[in-house]
Amino acid sequence: MSEVAMELIDVRKTIGKKEIIKGLSFTIEKGEVFGFIGPNGAGKTTTIRMMVGLMKLTDGDVLIQGNSIKSNYKEAVREVGAIVENPEMYPFMTGAQNLAHYARMIPGITKERINEVVAIVGLEKAMKEKVGRYSLGMRQRLGIAQALLHNPSILILDEPTNGLDPAGIREIRRYIRKLAEEKNVSVIISSHLLSEIELMCDRIGIIQNGELVAIQQVHDNVETDNLMQVEMEVSPRDKAIELLKDHHKIDATEMGSKLLFQLEKENIPTLIKTFVKHDISVYQVGITKASLEDKFFDLIGENTIE
Ligand SMILES: Nc1ncnc2c1ncn2[C@@H]1O[C@H](COP(=O)(O)OP(=O)(O)O)[C@@H](O)[C@H]1O
Ligand SMILES: [Mg+2]
Repeated sequence: MSEVAMELIDVRKTIGKKEIIKGLSFTIEKGEVFGFIGPNGAGKTTTIRMMVGLMKLTDGDVLIQGNSIKSNYKEAVREVGAIVENPEMYPFMTGAQNLAHYARMIPGITKERINEVVAIVGLEKAMKEKVGRYSLGMRQRLGIAQALLHNPSILILDEPTNGLDPAGIREIRRYIRKLAEEKNVSVIISSHLLSEIELMCDRIGIIQNGELVAIQQVHDNVETDNLMQVEMEVSPRDKAIELLKDHHKIDATEMGSKLLFQLEKENIPTLIKTFVKHDISVYQVGITKASLEDKFFDLIGENTIE
């Protein structure tokens, strides 16, 4: 059975009169990489700030290894390493000097621990180089090393792929996976771009307008995940759109002469029968398995934002 590393229980945040986070509840398991995805302004940073104790919760609680961020603050934050804003690094100091500088602020950090975190993020060769000469990807990895110094069980990264090129993203991905798989660290990684982090995550939670709208395994089994992307050529189209809405609660998109929508495989024959019964001619049906990307756009795409 999987062990819980972090639990959000009906977390809420109101600033002024605006409810920004509207009751988030989910759990993060030990050693999993959890992608926290949502468009800009969805509430990712606000949620993360509450998770790491940088901001008070209006309501609800966050349990970190069973410790409440409200009543056991010290024990709770002890388990968390995070990069929320861009990590502060001194460009005129080397990587090793930067890490030593931070290590001095945390009691009990040994030289061995510093070497260990440097190895985790693969920066051994860059330690003697000035950080001002690092690529953005290297700087992010040094930030991760710094966040790992005190040996947290959960690492939280807010939009770490922002501004990185594909090579930089690949590097981060490799070290994040290694951290989860070899060190059993849980990693929460936020992004507004699903494509950038999908490959490094075990699960994805999608947040929109302060609410969780979906949680899903990334490598879902084809047998259990049967949501299909359906393309249909039908006539008359408006009548078909109306039927889809009324009978299946589906919002179809028109693309050329076709309708696009998502439906579970087992419901496709019923839908065709319904169409025929209502005198809608079906000329073509095409189905492909919906990717997570499709689901993401379906959930938070332009059409559905209120
Ligand atoms: N200090 C604040 N005061 C008022 N509104 C805020 C504050 N911080 C964030 N917000 C609002 O909360 C919403 C969520 O913001 P944020 O958590 O930064 O989203 P994300 O990180 O997903 O882009 C936005 O609408 C933002 O304008
Ligand atoms: Mg943000």
